[in-house]
Amino acid sequence: MKNMRHVLGALLLWLTGIAVAAPPVYLDDTQPVEERVEDALSRMTLEEKVALCHAQSKFSSPGVPRLGLPENWMTDGPHGIRSELLWDEWSPAGWTNDSCMAFPALTCLAATWNPDMALRYGRALGEEARYRNKNVLLGPGVNIYRTPLNGRNFEYMGEDPYLASELAVPYIQGVQSCGVAACVKHFALNNQEKDRHYVDVELSDRALYEIYLPAFQAAVQRGKVWSIMGSFNRYQGQHCCHNQRLLNDILRGEWGFDGVVISDWGAVHNTLEAAYNGLDLEFGSLTDGMEFSVDNAYDDYYLSRRFLELLKSGSIPESVVDGKVRNILRLMFRTTMNRNRPYGSFKNRAHGEVARQIAEEGIVLLQNRDNVLPIQLEKIRKILVVGENAIKMMTVGGGSSSLKAWYEVSPLEGLRARIGDVAEVVYARGYASPDPPKSVMYTIPSLQTDRSADELLAEAVALAREADYVIFVGGLNKNGHQDCEGGDRKSYSLPYDQDRLIEALAEVNPRTVVVLVSGNSVAMPWADRVGAIVEGWYCGSEAGHALAAVLTGDVNPSGKLPFTMCERLEDYHAHALNDSLVYPGVNHREVYKDDIFVGYRWSDKQKKDRRPLFCFGHGLSYTTFEYGKAVLDRKQMTAADSLRVRVSVKNTGSRAGAEVVQLYVSDLKSSLPRPIKELKGFRKVMLQPGESREVEFVLDRTSLSYFDDAKHAWVAEPGRFEVLIGASAEDIRSRAGFELKP
Ligand code: BGC
Repeated sequence: MKNMRHVLGALLLWLTGIAVAAPPVYLDDTQPVEERVEDALSRMTLEEKVALCHAQSKFSSPGVPRLGLPENWMTDGPHGIRSELLWDEWSPAGWTNDSCMAFPALTCLAATWNPDMALRYGRALGEEARYRNKNVLLGPGVNIYRTPLNGRNFEYMGEDPYLASELAVPYIQGVQSCGVAACVKHFALNNQEKDRHYVDVELSDRALYEIYLPAFQAAVQRGKVWSIMGSFNRYQGQHCCHNQRLLNDILRGEWGFDGVVISDWGAVHNTLEAAYNGLDLEFGSLTDGMEFSVDNAYDDYYLSRRFLELLKSGSIPESVVDGKVRNILRLMFRTTMNRNRPYGSFKNRAHGEVARQIAEEGIVLLQNRDNVLPIQLEKIRKILVVGENAIKMMTVGGGSSSLKAWYEVSPLEGLRARIGDVAEVVYARGYASPDPPKSVMYTIPSLQTDRSADELLAEAVALAREADYVIFVGGLNKNGHQDCEGGDRKSYSLPYDQDRLIEALAEVNPRTVVVLVSGNSVAMPWADRVGAIVEGWYCGSEAGHALAAVLTGDVNPSGKLPFTMCERLEDYHAHALNDSLVYPGVNHREVYKDDIFVGYRWSDKQKKDRRPLFCFGHGLSYTTFEYGKAVLDRKQMTAADSLRVRVSVKNTGSRAGAEVVQLYVSDLKSSLPRPIKELKGFRKVMLQPGESREVEFVLDRTSLSYFDDAKHAWVAEPGRFEVLIGASAEDIRSRAGFELKP
């Protein structure tokens, strides 16, 4: 008997030994990923493969339970983890543990001009996503700021492809360090919300490669992003989620992308195109393609039953679905099947700290007449805060990026917390906007008021007369057409008659500070009549604290504009031509006649009196910086060389502060028309009073090249170039020339 037990024990050991020694290859994380992918693929039925390619709920897609392959769970993105929704509805699921940390919107991140902030942002967001068991974070958004009317500019990183690239890469690396895939979006040319489902964009290859693609390419090749979202619009007549040129030729072919292409929600329209043109994973489709859906229609998706039938009949070869499944399996191995990924963490103080620092570094001081800011706390008795945006929750609204935030410190709360014990902080509403629709309102109190616009204005003006400072907090507000997905702004002006109110306040109080909460530029007809203007962005949970810190000087502002702020809408190239074909399109056809001349690339070419109100890269500080001469390590280079540029920058004021040293390259003569200058480097340096630092940049042929449509290649054309070092696109402090030799 005892012997028998020994024998059985040995047998068991032997058997379990075998099991431990040889799990199936796809479950063995010591094996190379590609072998695991092939092994898993070889075990799957056709039905299982097709099931992987489309959603099963609003935000999840199935795995293969039989093989222990997990589901994928997506979450918006891009500046906080969206609350849980019902399985097949857009209504909230009503969880009590899904209130997230709200980080500043991406325009604010871009305005930090600080890649380290982008890394911390991505890491904190990745930790939140991971904790909430999401393996794909739907962000960052890197569409280019082509028009200030675009309703989603606040979710993107401005007008310059270089700046957006430099910030997207660390954001992605941060998210993915948590074992969560970033999903860079919306690929590509989704630069407006108006007609976004239909508009067919035409543009030169040069504009495509120089302006609209670089941030995506950087995300893929340098950020090694694991997923990408196709956009709603069309390009070359095909919807971008199944677009031969964008997905097969460029993304996979030229850039070597090996991750998953995810559709935008409801952006797929055709089974054959979806099968052949690069899409892997279909989400959010509506039964009739555009407007309408029945419940749980997942079997009716383009990559569902119809796809399976075509595969079964042999009309589509199995290799087509295999390609998609390989990409999806790779995503699983990188995320859910990675046993070593960290556990993540959610809405904690550390994440609040990250959110606050980004907000503090991103807020831009646009104007500061007579040094009206910082608020001189020792000299004041009474501060009047005016404006709805001082009390309105801004983490809610705007479309899919709307958040259920753990907390949100409003500007009024932030100012009261900081100033309340040294001065009286009085509040007047000043103006009112209508409440957004009920679907947006579920987590926020109504701000409805019965008082008329005149009453609100009169009250604010009366109080303004007696205040030491008037802090007006207005701007846009994420209501429909006011920085919101699904529609563009209808006007460049501030809504709700805010201009009239600002003029009236400025007339009675010279120390009027205008804080704009927005993700877009607005008309500022009152600019020369107010003391200070601050771009306050949508700053998330810590908005009020960050704003108060900047206004009082606890934090010295160091944000710089990631896009040009023009005086009039017509000063933007997409509007200058006064041609509906250029924006918003005619009969769903839109031609980017503005070509590569977007943002400062356009305003640089305008006469002095049509230059921007506040240019790209602009942002003031409470201290001053002096730049030395730009010094090059050589006067000549070839395309194989690199060129070092050194410049010193000194804090010549009495406060510590950070400066963003910007490097632009100017091609003095070229066979193709080129922008007067283009951003090719920047460095943010923190300096104590009196301290100076040398900043170094390295340029190579990529910094000098343009994209030649005819050759379909980047060309660094020999000739004379100039390096421009500046504190903004218009504030160039030093120049140095060099020659590119053949
Ligand atoms: C948006 C995407 C978003 C998706 C899921 C779409 O309407 O365009 O950016 O990630 O919805 O909410």
